Amino acid sequence: MTVEQPISRYSPEFDVAVRGDTITADRYISKEWMELERDRLWPKVWHLGGVTAELEEEGDFIRHNFGKESVIMVKQADGSIKAFYNSCPHRGNRLILGDAGSTPRITCGYHGWQFDPDGTLVHVQDPDDFAGGNPCGKTKLSELRCETWGPFVFWCMDDDVAPLHEWLSPFPERLKGYKLENWVRVLNVSADANFNWKIIRDNFNESYHLPTIHPELATFINDGLPTTLFEMYESGHNAMWMIGHQATTRKDYVSGDVPPGLYEAAEAWGIDPKEYRGRTNDIREAVIKAKREKGAERGYDYSEMTDQQLVDYFHCTLFPNLTITMSPEQCQILRTEPHPTDPEKCVFQHWCLYPPVEGMTEIDTPVGRAPFRHDAIHRHSVYGDGVSVGYVADQDLSIGTTQQQGLNSRGFKGCLLPGQEKRIQRFHELLNDYVKGGA
Ligand code: FES
Ligand SMILES: [Fe+2]
Repeated sequence: MTVEQPISRYSPEFDVAVRGDTITADRYISKEWMELERDRLWPKVWHLGGVTAELEEEGDFIRHNFGKESVIMVKQADGSIKAFYNSCPHRGNRLILGDAGSTPRITCGYHGWQFDPDGTLVHVQDPDDFAGGNPCGKTKLSELRCETWGPFVFWCMDDDVAPLHEWLSPFPERLKGYKLENWVRVLNVSADANFNWKIIRDNFNESYHLPTIHPELATFINDGLPTTLFEMYESGHNAMWMIGHQATTRKDYVSGDVPPGLYEAAEAWGIDPKEYRGRTNDIREAVIKAKREKGAERGYDYSEMTDQQLVDYFHCTLFPNLTITMSPEQCQILRTEPHPTDPEKCVFQHWCLYPPVEGMTEIDTPVGRAPFRHDAIHRHSVYGDGVSVGYVADQDLSIGTTQQQGLNSRGFKGCLLPGQEKRIQRFHELLNDYVKGGA
């Protein structure tokens, strides 16, 4: 007798074969792996450094600490942005110690050397005391690549990596309809956590954990198979389309009352949920219609979004460590970055951006209601100390430490993955290529 099994659905257009490399525990635990990643992975990818909203006038700067590295991005007189290593060419002192600010001259706190926003050294103490003559005008800060996409600034340490737009492909094209350019980052939170950065990467590369870790999402997000569509690209990035405004098909939510979550989502668009008793799946279409009819009068610009974008969740998982989760009214940036020295720790970051809506002064974020302005909620915490990094993200992080502990067991022999976790398999194979193959 055969039992019907749910089958994972991969886009025929965007699918990539995997080899079946064993995913062993050392990559989550050992210093050797961490150092190989530092030398062979992190220099070879683009890193999201911040948002352009903080870089308006010449001399405005933002800083991004990444592992042992620190990078500053500085607005130039011609409107462009340059990125520099945050290290003084005199004797290496870190130049910028805050997250963001503005200065006509970047000044080192040790011996007072000063640099123009374009990185040129313009002032030193005792300029005639150098064998080669006054170094001003000749010495520059060490520069790295810096490019922008939408509201985001990225930096890259390697000159051979593809230009940013090419590297991000296909997302700039696929996300165009959301018009992210002028969205505002309201939430900017981060936390130190006691697990390797890849623990949460794996988590974002699968939806298998939704019924257990986020059971309440099932009433308004359909996490069932094969409804959920996975896309995998040659570049190593991947995506997941998850049907929203519809309850999961893992249980029968269709034939009875409209479940909570979906109920509120319908009411929010003036739809009477009681009319959908016994046919709750029809709410999704009704919301599409309502958004088309009432979106503009409520201040939203849905004009270039597809019907699917109006109601579903598009999770974009970029290799190696950046996730962009899109809905028409919220863009979530979720990522983990390595700890400077400890492979069993990481830094988790969560940003939320929102489209500007005329007259809107407050907004609901994953950590509560906030004023609608740049970085209204901006904080760093230690995971586990009771400070939320977002309701759903807290749930994801809740398994991180115990998974890290279990991976340290001599009894763990490597992951055993179902078909729907192929994106995890692919992630680790690509990582193997970078780290072990020296790609
Ligand atoms: S280390 Fe920067 S001025 Fe000396
Ligand atoms: Fe999750």
